Amino acid sequence: MNPTPGPTASGARLLDGRAASQELLDALRREVEVGVAAGRPRPGLATVLVGEDPASQVYVRNKRRACEKVGIRTFHLDLPADVGQEGLLRHVRDLDEHPEVHGILVQLPLPKDGGYDENEVLAAISPEKDADGFHPVNQGRLMLGQPGPRPCTPRGVMHLLDRTGEELTGRHAVVVGRSNIVGKPVALMLLERHMTVTVCHSRTRDLAAEVGRADVLVAAVGVPELVKGAWIRPGAVVVDVGINRRPEGGLVGDVEFDAAAERASWITPVPGGVGPMTIAMLLRNTVEAAWGPLAMP
Ligand code: GUN
Repeated sequence: MNPTPGPTASGARLLDGRAASQELLDALRREVEVGVAAGRPRPGLATVLVGEDPASQVYVRNKRRACEKVGIRTFHLDLPADVGQEGLLRHVRDLDEHPEVHGILVQLPLPKDGGYDENEVLAAISPEKDADGFHPVNQGRLMLGQPGPRPCTPRGVMHLLDRTGEELTGRHAVVVGRSNIVGKPVALMLLERHMTVTVCHSRTRDLAAEVGRADVLVAAVGVPELVKGAWIRPGAVVVDVGINRRPEGGLVGDVEFDAAAERASWITPVPGGVGPMTIAMLLRNTVEAAWGPLAMP
């Protein structure tokens, strides 16, 4: 049995993604300034948006704004929903050949009714320009423990866990959700850090019991407040990746925040937890695509 610290008298400490993200963006801005002054090419990110999904429009706008603040050049393609698979592939391949584009991001999901093959689109980006870390070669590298761009949200989760100062080695992580962009890659990254990892999903028989074994819980299912506070093991670190819109307005995570905060040692808020980290890591992946790995933490 692993020793776990009890809950603090005032409940959990907040794992503040806004503060962590701001620190990372400030550090990236300094790196870019110094690197460009020393003659390195200015990093460039191309964003591709297909169709008019309002949430995707907001995400892409936020990503581009963050790039501008850090000194990363942006290239943007706003394509109609009916551009079609072949048209989209042509655009992606053109960007891929552009020498000033170091990273490419195709915002997902692609429109449902356009007959798009997401996998083929992701595979059309060179693995070296894959700012999202979604290319099959990069997912394979992660699986094999080889260097390569890692998916941004999982990388943000790991950065937040490191900020707690909690020991990870040998402890039990439970991931709720098995998506290709969060659940599966974060499980591999936790394993890479020598955690014992359980991955739960919609067919898991006794989710409460599995969650109750977690020293570190990562919830990434997209179901509002699926994980009940009473399930959390006292002293656990809770990272909530979910961002769900409540019918009555406002955002909630995949975890019942107030009840979980009574038991956790650390917990991410929603919003202001993992969300801001995703953008910071996208920018870091872009700078690293241009220049190679950065030495900063
Ligand atoms: N849609 C939701 N999250 C992401 C992401 O991290 N990258 C891209 N490209 N699309 C997304």
